[in-house]
Amino acid sequence: MTKNKTLKFLLLSLLATSTLYAQQTLCYKENLTSISEIEYVNLDGGICKGEKNLQDMKNDSWIIDDVKISPNNGKYSFTYIFKKYNQQNVSSDNIDEKINKILAQRKIKAKQERKEKIRLAKLKRLTDGQTLYENKCASCHGIDGNTRTMHSKKLSELHEFDYFQKMKAYGVGAIKSPLAYQMESIAQFLSDKDITNIYLYLRTLKK
Ligand code: HEC
Repeated sequence: MTKNKTLKFLLLSLLATSTLYAQQTLCYKENLTSISEIEYVNLDGGICKGEKNLQDMKNDSWIIDDVKISPNNGKYSFTYIFKKYNQQNVSSDNIDEKINKILAQRKIKAKQERKEKIRLAKLKRLTDGQTLYENKCASCHGIDGNTRTMHSKKLSELHEFDYFQKMKAYGVGAIKSPLAYQMESIAQFLSDKDITNIYLYLRTLKK
């Protein structure tokens, strides 16, 4: 069975038992002098507790499942077994509809959770990038990425490809310009992820 089918099956059995499950209660009345009295006296026991008569029980959707009348010395004792279904029988269409609704809601919820997770992860990368930039880069390249150091373009205007290529090259000492050493000492300690995070932040500075 696929995951959804298994789930559907589980939900189906759950719904079926909860909707069709019958409640049961036993009420009685002892020593009535006439049989007709049972129509209006309150019954004892069960959920009747001396507070409900037959009509009350019927009004509460209880169905008489069984009744026993025991005569004793000209008096009558009654024992009733009442049953009640939590709901009217639910058609299978209805159950299917409910299951589909639950499944659809789960799907939507899972999708929202996934989206939120991605959003938070992106936000984290961006703030990590900002922290790195402000601590390690802004002193030379400007807080907004617009300062031109001696030999460098404005970082805020640098093309994505050039940025990554340069960062890699500085990191391995592949650029031989007079001031490259300033970049080397920084770039070699940055991970690929750091470099990307900084770029994500730089992109927000672009005009
Ligand atoms: C101490 C000053 C200093 C700091 C701090 C610094 N840089 Fe630089 N950066 C430079 C200099 C100087 C150059 C030009 C080097 C050269 O001549 O190749 C440069 C060049 C670059 C370039 C190439 C730009 C171009 O024109 O192609 C990039 C990209 C860059 N830096 C990114 C960064 C990042 C990201 C950080 C922070 C992690 C950083 N820099 C920190 C001084 C610095």
